[in-house]
Amino acid sequence: RLLDDRPKPLAGRTVIVTSGPTHEPIDPVRYIANRSSGKQGHAIAAALADLGATVRLVSGPVQVADPPGVDVIAVESAREMHDAVHQLLPADAAIFAAAVADYRPASEADEKIKKQAGGIDAIALAENPDILASVGNHATQRPRLVIGFAAETQELAENARAKLARKGADFIIANDVSHDSGIGGAGGVMGGDRNRVTLVSKDDADRWPEMDKAEVAVRIADLVARHLQTLTT
Ligand code: CTP
Ligand code: CA
Repeated sequence: RLLDDRPKPLAGRTVIVTSGPTHEPIDPVRYIANRSSGKQGHAIAAALADLGATVRLVSGPVQVADPPGVDVIAVESAREMHDAVHQLLPADAAIFAAAVADYRPASEADEKIKKQAGGIDAIALAENPDILASVGNHATQRPRLVIGFAAETQELAENARAKLARKGADFIIANDVSHDSGIGGAGGVMGGDRNRVTLVSKDDADRWPEMDKAEVAVRIADLVARHLQTLTT
């Protein structure tokens, strides 16, 4: 790193990245979550830092290491992630790689819920804030470049483009998760080291070949560098 004299096209730029799952508390010892590993989001943060960006990584609970040279803000729930991201604005770009829980338990029990004879019926859920949409459609502090992800099992490009419009994103990185095994992510996108994505913009869909998540990250960082350049010169 001391002898690192590669070009730094993102020097002086600030980029917010979200990564990992969120944990939505049921009671002091239980939560609702998903299988996101944080590998893709953390790799993107690392790749952006390699290009000289000041990177703020807002991450849910993950097992992967903090990327070197990145400012990591650890959060648990979607609402904490939302508040942390908004506190970090303004930024030049924002990339939303986190697998945010769409719903949370409507209330968190103060005490551990005891097992009850006859069981319990259901956990009431409330909708979480859409963090990407809140930033992509921000009235005063929208970053110049906003990139989201979309995990889809059907009609990949169409669904991704609908998300792009609804959430005010410039690009959506669409993942086909229809062949994910769902067993600890083994062999699937969630938890695995490989990814196959389609880069969707307003009038384009560019299908990238399957590659390591680290390589996807480098390509996304290059895309960010290219766009922030053309937007200023
Ligand atoms: N996202 C977010 N906040 C949420 C939900 C999603 O910031 N509460 C972001 C994700 O980080 C991702 C993008 O929105 O970049 C798309 O997430 P996805 O789950 O595919 O979209 P949803 O709008 O939740 O639609 P659905 O789950 O029904 O497909
Ligand atoms: Ca969702």
